[in-house]
Amino acid sequence: MIPENLKANLEQRIAAAITHREAAVDVMKELQRHYGWLTDEALEEASQLLGLSPLQVEELATFYEMIYRRPVGRHVVHVCDSVSCWALGGETLLESLAKLLETESGSTTADGAVTLLPCSCLGNCGEAPCMMVGEKQYGRVTPEIGVQIVAALRLRDGSTNS
Ligand code: FES
Repeated sequence: MIPENLKANLEQRIAAAITHREAAVDVMKELQRHYGWLTDEALEEASQLLGLSPLQVEELATFYEMIYRRPVGRHVVHVCDSVSCWALGGETLLESLAKLLETESGSTTADGAVTLLPCSCLGNCGEAPCMMVGEKQYGRVTPEIGVQIVAALRLRDGSTNS
């Protein structure tokens, strides 16, 4: 169950949207922030708040790759694998991060700290290769810089291995 203040906030945002569907991603992201991922319970709550069927919400949720329908780590690292980033070393960046985290692309470290995911274009192609940690974007990320960014996350968490 979401807290009443969050529910009221979401209701206001839905009321301000032209259509309820327009507010769907915003609502799902807030619920995801609350639960850590879009749980079945969260999906049901989104459905009730938005006046959409659970299936309609599920369709929207699975369309947006920043909405997680499975548990993720405390930090989610997205590495763009679209053409500009790929051409400028995105693949090597992803491999370097997987090696650092001792996990595979698409997986979460054993300690639940970091989920590493490839993603579609982050809309920052001019600064390729790009990655995103949580909601913060980084551009011109060499493997060395990417490793520093992710290692810093883990240090901040106080975890030293996966
Ligand atoms: S191709 Fe990577 S940000 Fe656009």
